[in-house]
Amino acid sequence: MPPAPSPRLSVVIDTDPGVDDAWAILFLAAQPDVEIVAVGAAHGNVPTAVAAANALRVLDIAGLDHIPVAAGHPTPLQQPLRTSEFVHGVDGLGGNAGPASLRRTSQESAAEQLVRLARQRPGELTLLALAPLTNIALALRIEPNLPRYLRRVVCMGGAFRVPGNVTAWAEANSAHDPEAAEEVLRAGFDLTLVPLDMTDHAWADDIWLKRIADADAPAARFASSVLDTYVALYSSTRGTVGCVLHDPLAAAIMVDESLATYEEHQVMVELAGHTRGATLLDARKFTVSHGGIPDQRPPVRIAATVDAVTAMDRIHHALTA
Ligand code: RIB
Ligand code: CA
Repeated sequence: MPPAPSPRLSVVIDTDPGVDDAWAILFLAAQPDVEIVAVGAAHGNVPTAVAAANALRVLDIAGLDHIPVAAGHPTPLQQPLRTSEFVHGVDGLGGNAGPASLRRTSQESAAEQLVRLARQRPGELTLLALAPLTNIALALRIEPNLPRYLRRVVCMGGAFRVPGNVTAWAEANSAHDPEAAEEVLRAGFDLTLVPLDMTDHAWADDIWLKRIADADAPAARFASSVLDTYVALYSSTRGTVGCVLHDPLAAAIMVDESLATYEEHQVMVELAGHTRGATLLDARKFTVSHGGIPDQRPPVRIAATVDAVTAMDRIHHALTA
């Protein structure tokens, strides 16, 4: 028997499942050339403990019950915990989380797990960050050279030329821990940001969702079963039945970066005032010495256009195969 081909991508996921996170994990589980190495659970959509329990459940359902889940820090770095059960359901999975996994989370924290794996496999691992960046910031504090150990980071987060979704200005993953987002975005990771500007295009309408619901596939059945609260919320805000697949789009772009085009900009996170949690860039085409990003932080890559139709097709295929 020839050895299995080595995976093209080896991924650590930091996630707050959460409905769209669960979809993203199911999408990645169906990618033949992607190795999910480990999962870190984060606060955000739900408290960390609920996110960890849901990550175990989704991995079990995806046939990945050997993948470890490490629980992350229970609160943001410098603000009280705020969660979004009104979007994802009281159990984070639309009230249909189902029976708990028989597995337990690891003894180490999500930050410790990420640092350990990055040091063990220098230059090999991609981090997919689908939650507030608390665990990543804490991992940076443990290992300041983390940007050199990780191959790259793909992060769903931020909003630049569209409204936020927690405040008028701030997207949830940056709003739920602005200090962490600021620390990560200035740290020098090879980082690709997939903001609301892109994920707003990943709209799953009722016809698209029915194709998933009608599919005879375990992943599709589970994915459909957790949607009620999520679809109700998004339908109410958009005036038509459907929902936005933020994290699955970020996962699809991580798997195939040709789905998007990119701009490179320094990004900072506002930490004070009404716009706290907003992600800011200086898009001026000329260099000025004032009124922009106040330091020489490295730029990050920001997805600027996306082939959402192809991405949605791939998400559908992954869940219904
Ligand atoms: O703003 C959308 C992001 O916040 C997604 O990752 C969603 O799961 C929530 O965490
Ligand atoms: Ca998320």
